[in-house]
Order: sequence, then C-alpha cells, then structure tokens
Amino acid sequence: MSEALPFEEVYWPDKERYLEYYKKSVYDIERFWDERARELIWLKYWDRVLDDSNPPFYRWFVGGVTNININALDKWYGTSVENKVAYYWVGEPGDRRAVTYGDLYREVNRLAWALRELVGVKPGEGVTIYLPMIPELPISMLAVTRIGAFHSVVFSGFSAAALAERIVDAKSRILITADGFYRRGRIIELKKIADEAVRLAAERGVKVEKVIVVRRARVEVPWSEGRDLWYHELLNEAPPKAYVKPEPRQATDVLFILYTSGTTGKPKGIMHSVGGYMTYVYNVFKWNWDPRPDDIFWTAADIGWITGHTYIVYGPLMHGMTQIMYEGAPDYPNPGRIWSLVEEYGVTTFYTSPTMLRLLMKYGDKWLEGRDFSRLRLLGTVGEPINPEVWKWYYTKVGRERAPIVDTWWQTETGAAMISPAPGIALVPLKPGSATYPLPGIVADVLRDDGRPAEPGEKGLLVIKKPWPGMLMGIWGDPKRYIKTYWERFSKPEEGVWIYYPADYAVKDKDGYFWLLGRADEVMNVAGHRLGTIELEDAVLMHPAVSEAAVVGFPDPVKGEVPVALVVLKEGYEPSPKLEEEIKAKVREVIGPIAVPKRVLFVNKLPKTRSGKIMRRIILRLARGQDPGDVTTLEDPASVDEVKKALENLKS
Ligand code: PRX
Repeated sequence: MSEALPFEEVYWPDKERYLEYYKKSVYDIERFWDERARELIWLKYWDRVLDDSNPPFYRWFVGGVTNININALDKWYGTSVENKVAYYWVGEPGDRRAVTYGDLYREVNRLAWALRELVGVKPGEGVTIYLPMIPELPISMLAVTRIGAFHSVVFSGFSAAALAERIVDAKSRILITADGFYRRGRIIELKKIADEAVRLAAERGVKVEKVIVVRRARVEVPWSEGRDLWYHELLNEAPPKAYVKPEPRQATDVLFILYTSGTTGKPKGIMHSVGGYMTYVYNVFKWNWDPRPDDIFWTAADIGWITGHTYIVYGPLMHGMTQIMYEGAPDYPNPGRIWSLVEEYGVTTFYTSPTMLRLLMKYGDKWLEGRDFSRLRLLGTVGEPINPEVWKWYYTKVGRERAPIVDTWWQTETGAAMISPAPGIALVPLKPGSATYPLPGIVADVLRDDGRPAEPGEKGLLVIKKPWPGMLMGIWGDPKRYIKTYWERFSKPEEGVWIYYPADYAVKDKDGYFWLLGRADEVMNVAGHRLGTIELEDAVLMHPAVSEAAVVGFPDPVKGEVPVALVVLKEGYEPSPKLEEEIKAKVREVIGPIAVPKRVLFVNKLPKTRSGKIMRRIILRLARGQDPGDVTTLEDPASVDEVKKALENLKS
C-alpha cells in the first residue's frame, strides 16, 4: 500500500477538514440527513426523517411528498439553465444533438402526457425501458417518474430471454424500446430482440400491451398493429405545450427498480425510493464532483446500469450540469474516440470504469498525446478495484497530474457512492488504489469472519453499520431474499443490531483508508458488471449436451475477470470446437454478449464434495494460479488435476 499523494495545484488536500465534517455528519445521522434533504424541493416535508421501527426495512423521510422531476427539470424552467445544454449527444456514426434543459422539459411533458392519456400508464405501475444510449432514454425515465409510475431500465446489451425475465418479474404492461442502434459500425436491431422478449413474456403469463418504439437507426422493423406505437407519433399527438403536473409521490414510494445479479440464478430487482434516493444522490453528486456552472461532465458508462441512473440522469440533472452522452463503443472507429471528445468539448469531469481505462491504456499513449486536456479537473472511477498502475497512468497521462482521482466504491443497492474522496467538501490526500474514506453520513467498517473488527491492514469483510437514504428499499417481490442477502451475515436482531453486508472484501489501513478488494460471494465482476456464477451456470446447462457446469472468473488484464466454463458433457457427446461455440451462443442467447464465456473447457469430472456440491472455490484458486487448498473433502481428488490441466490449456 503506497503513501498518500498530494494535489497542491488544483485541490489542496485537507484531511482534517474532511474528517471534521465527516465526524459531525455521523454524530447524529438523522439530523444530518434532515438538513441535507431540505436542500431539495418537496411538496410536503416529512414527519419522520428515518423510520427504523421495522429493520431492515428502513424508510426515509416518511410522510414527505415530492417528485424527482421537480428537482431535476421543473426547477430549471424559467431560469437561465433552461437554455443550457443538458446533453451533448454524440452518436456512434458521428451524428450529434444538443438537448437543452428546456428541450428536456418540453419533451418529458409531452411524453408524460402521451403515456398517461394515450397509453394509459397509471401511477404506481412499472414501465420497462429497453433503450440504447440516446436522449430518449433519460427522457423516458423522467416521463415515467413524472406521472408517478416507476421504471425498470434493462441494459440494451441483454438478450431477449434476459429482458423477458425482467418484464415478467416486474409484470410490465408497457415497454419502451428503439428500432436499433449503432455498435462498432453495426446496427443492433433492438426491436426484433424486444419482440422476442414480449413473446417469451407472454408464454410466462405476462402480456405486454404496448410497445413504444423510438426511431433511431431507421431500420425496417417488424410491427404488431394495435400493440406497437412509434414514439415520435405519440409525441405528435400530445399538445405542443403539454404540461403534466408532476404526480405527488410519497418519499417511501418506489422511484425505480433495477435488476442486478446475485448468487442465485434469478436477478434481483433492487428497489429505490423516491425521497431517499433523491436526497442521497443530490448530495453525493455534489461531494464527488464539486459541480460548477461551466462544467462539462461526462460519465462514460451506460444508463442501463446504476452508474448511469445516478451519474448520467438524476444526479447531474438535479445539479443543472451540461453532459456528454455517447452512443457507441469507446474504441470505435479508433481508440482515440473518447479522448477526442474529451478534448473537443473541454470536458472538466470525467468518470468511467477501470475496465474502460485498461482498454484505452492498452492501445498506447499515442492516442492521448498532444491533446488539450487543460479543462479536466476531476477524474473518477467506479465498478471495480483500480490497480495502482492504471491509477497512475490515468493520473499522469489523462489528468496531467492536475486532476485528483475520485475512486468511488458503491453498488446498485447503495444508490450512489459510499466510500470515495469528496472534493466537493475537502479533498483528502489520495493513495492510488484506495477509495479513501466513507462519505458523510456513512458508517463503514471492516470485520473478520466472526464479526469482530479487523485489525488495520488485515483483510476482512466490508460492512455498513447505519442506514443511509440512498439504500435500497428491498428486493422487488422478495423481502426474504433482501434480509438473507444483505442483513443476515452480521446482524444480531435479538440485540437490535443491524449491519448491511455488501459482500466485498476490504482492508482498512493504519490511516483509516479503505481498500476495496473484490467480491466475497459467488458473483463475478466482468468489465465492471456483476454476473452471478449460478446464473451463468444455469445458462450453460441449458445446452442439451451439458451434464454439469462450473463457471469461474478467470483473471483478465482488461476486464478484470472473464467467465470461463468448465463443462462435463452428457453421454454420447464429444468435446469439439463447434460444441464450445454452441455453448457460448447459448449463453449469449440466455443472458447477452457481456456474459459469454471466454472459453468452454471440457473435463470428465468437476471437483465435488461427497455430497455432490461443486467446489468452485477450488477451481477459482486454480484459475488464479494459487494452491487449491484442502482437497481432502473431495469425492475424487484426481478431479483437481484434470481441472488444472484444462486451465493450463487456457493460459497457452
Ligand atoms: O465489488 C464491488 C464493485 O462492484 C460491486 C457493485 O457492482 P454493481 O452493483 O454492478 O455497481 C457497480 C457500479 C456502482 C461492488 O460490490 N465495485 C464498485 N465500485 C468499486 C468496486 N470495487 C472496488 N472499487 C470500487 N471503486
């Protein structure tokens, strides 16, 4: 672990000032969040800041009434921000649009009107949104929340089967999608995938009644008369000056759900609240990015994940930011794409994942050299541990040693960053690879397996010991799983002790800095996206030739981890490259391209206990080149050698 780096030129590190603010914030968290929430517009203030009478179902700002549109859109209308650009949108082929706050306001109102009056969306119902990175995505999210419905955005890289699963779980009657979009010069025909998902959902008893289609790629689409509606035609039917009053919502209503992978095969619909999420995101955005009126802010991520919900849609809009929104692949048509946009638009604040940085770093510095990055003043990362090497490259080559790096640790469940530097309050000295301290109001610690605090420098499990407003309200339709996944590990209900367990390894060093070390459960982190081992194995097992499967995360220099499948074939099937491709295709079909295993390795036996449990931990150790550990409990220790051999194959 390296020593702290100072930033004398732009930000003056001041650990004492930060820690003083922090200490005050956690002295009385209810009072602290009460004050923070008053920075926003509410239709009615709350009766209670925090209802903790039914833990772990904490409820924030109980009795409060608001709508996030008021703070993200309406508040700017009629001010100088109205004519400010909200999104400089860049399509992959190079087409551009500038969408102002006024444009957003008008289009959101018209779409909200159409959704309510023509499509019949009701307050409290869930609308699934399956859109690429185009301005209609944030517009749809805002229109849905404006009329008091909630959205479930599904990443446009997911397959028809994955989309169907989410539609069924959320019981959505309405789907918003697009004809297609550009990716690496190709057109992905999204409507076709959406149609297939609608068919699959119907088979499982959920009928999608209306499919709203944004015209983006101008490709021919299959059309179902009566069910399908063009987005632009719907807008045209709305009065040009349509105004829809933001539906008053309880702070404790659901603002949105977003699915993420867990340790079972079924993705979890993480529910976020209207009032708590809004309050947390508004404040954390300010602490992370120290926003200024002339900033050009760019979160290079997809809105289909929580990073985009919080740092492309709700956070920046609540702060009146001007942003860059880019449709396509980061290295298309050449590896300088991202950097040329940073230079051209004079980006001040750039936030992305270590995977993206490793990819761009791999292409070499020539894509960066000679560029004018003089306006860059803050750099951020999210989604995975950033290795100090990449950190230093980012700091020197991109930030030119002037821009502090804001490494933000958080999760879909936490709403916004939890552990990260806060230049908006006071920057602490940075250490490459550490996310530094918990943000104000967040009480974090590292525990040993047995629940006692870990020593400084000792690897343990990260925990959050007090509720915070951005926390998930629960898992959609599955309260038991919510308790089991996040609270059972360390809580002691009989003593009234409730501890949130994120399932991440961490170390707290002697200065109190947190170092996040990756997942502690059977979830992989592939290119900054969570993928459940079991979910992947279920997909592999759907191929008729597969008898048994184990999937592990294999270390990868760019993506952090990539899935590798070990497969035992059924009687009568022979290993072959063709079969490997078929199994990969199956995973693509069931989950999507992000989940496709790098390799499918055929073995005769998987390491299993005598009771038949697959010992993934042993495979994982072997994949990482470590000693397999204790193999005496295995049914057949020889299976280890076989796996070892198969994995060696992989390295060569
Ligand atoms: O393991 C942690 C890792 O990403 C997980 C959360 O994934 P997801 O819900 O998809 O959200 C990603 C974007 C917020 C965490 O449990 N993770 C996230 N940020 C960091 C990180 N690991 C290390 N350092 C980070 N900054």
